Amino acid sequence: MAFSRHPTDYLGKEYRRLVSENLNWQLRVLESASEPICVVDGKEVLMLCANNYLNLATHPKVVEAMIKTSENYGAGAGSDRSISGNMVVHEELDRRLAEFKNAPASLTFQTGFMANEGVIPQLGGRGDLFISDELNHGSIIDGVRLCHADRAIFEHKDAEDLNRVMEEAEKHDPPYKHIWIFTDGVFSMDGDLAPLTEIAKIAKEHGAGVYVDDAHGEGVLGKGGRGIVSHFSLGRDEVHVEMGTFSKAFGVVGGHITGGEDLRNFAYNTSRSWLLSGAVPPGVAAACTAAIDVLETEPQHVEKVLHNRNHMLDGLNDAGFDTGNTETPIIPVMCGKSKTSKDLAEYLWNDGIFVLPIFYPMVAREKARIRVQLCTKHTTDQLNRALESFKEGGRKLRII
Ligand SMILES: Cc1ncc(COP(=O)(O)O)c(C=O)c1O
Repeated sequence: MAFSRHPTDYLGKEYRRLVSENLNWQLRVLESASEPICVVDGKEVLMLCANNYLNLATHPKVVEAMIKTSENYGAGAGSDRSISGNMVVHEELDRRLAEFKNAPASLTFQTGFMANEGVIPQLGGRGDLFISDELNHGSIIDGVRLCHADRAIFEHKDAEDLNRVMEEAEKHDPPYKHIWIFTDGVFSMDGDLAPLTEIAKIAKEHGAGVYVDDAHGEGVLGKGGRGIVSHFSLGRDEVHVEMGTFSKAFGVVGGHITGGEDLRNFAYNTSRSWLLSGAVPPGVAAACTAAIDVLETEPQHVEKVLHNRNHMLDGLNDAGFDTGNTETPIIPVMCGKSKTSKDLAEYLWNDGIFVLPIFYPMVAREKARIRVQLCTKHTTDQLNRALESFKEGGRKLRII
């Protein structure tokens, strides 16, 4: 029978469609360490789009831990943690993280994405309900999609709407066995915070679990950078899973969940991404532990990143930019159309400033933006230079 099927021609067509709609992703190449002044695509630029909020990626203690541990334990763990790759450095990291978070237990993963994708689908099944904030990170969305539980969404940060969803859920017959609420702690595209106290209160009234993804809150919010649960002074009986990552403020790579002993035991016995994938190299685990040490002993990094963030935010707002509702070192500079955000990023790039335009599908179509991210080592002079460039570019493109 004749058919016109081709195995791969749609890949190129789809890519060309993205280019024609200004929705393609342009990869740049970092040719130096991730520092405020770095070399990208052969050009020296001011970095304003790294997750390395505390500059721990290049902190001497963190780098030294990675080198020394690699020399002693090798470049790789040799296996999944579930088989023979569970080294003392992995166990030490789990233990130190739990201590840092003032929690009974933590379990570390290869990445934050893998933590969400591994743990979330195991928390429920048919007869259960998973409720998500509409702007949750893609790794939560994928984790939820991997589960057979019913799904519901509440409007972004809207506790009243969450209440509505809950009331509706209570009419379900038969009653849902388990209900979980999933939310980012800090929303990665906007820098705003989940109303975690209200969410925890509603959850308690309905016997629901609360799962918060604090990827961008750790190292920035809470006592000494302990994250959003500490920021809102919530207990482990109010937020049942605190998920996070070592790839942002901690400056390395890896994910984790923190909560009770039962959670840890349940997670490493059921999460497929944990059970069926190689352990992070020992040097990585040791570097993450060293990053925790730095957070515990050098509080100045957290103070400085917040100082820099306030300086940049005030400058952008004084210039007339719309920066949404950020409360963290993530500052969205709203541009509207994806083309405008790309044009502003290009203008800044030509002026030696590296930022990324963020557009559909990462955010809604008309909510394209530049996402500015501050770090500890930015100097006031560097930020003032960036502000001047933003102002000129913004005027030229009629954003301000
Ligand atoms: C909110 C949120 N959750 C999870 C992740 C995934 O973390 P990781 O980089 O460790 O995979 C990210 C990273 O982009 C994130 O922003």
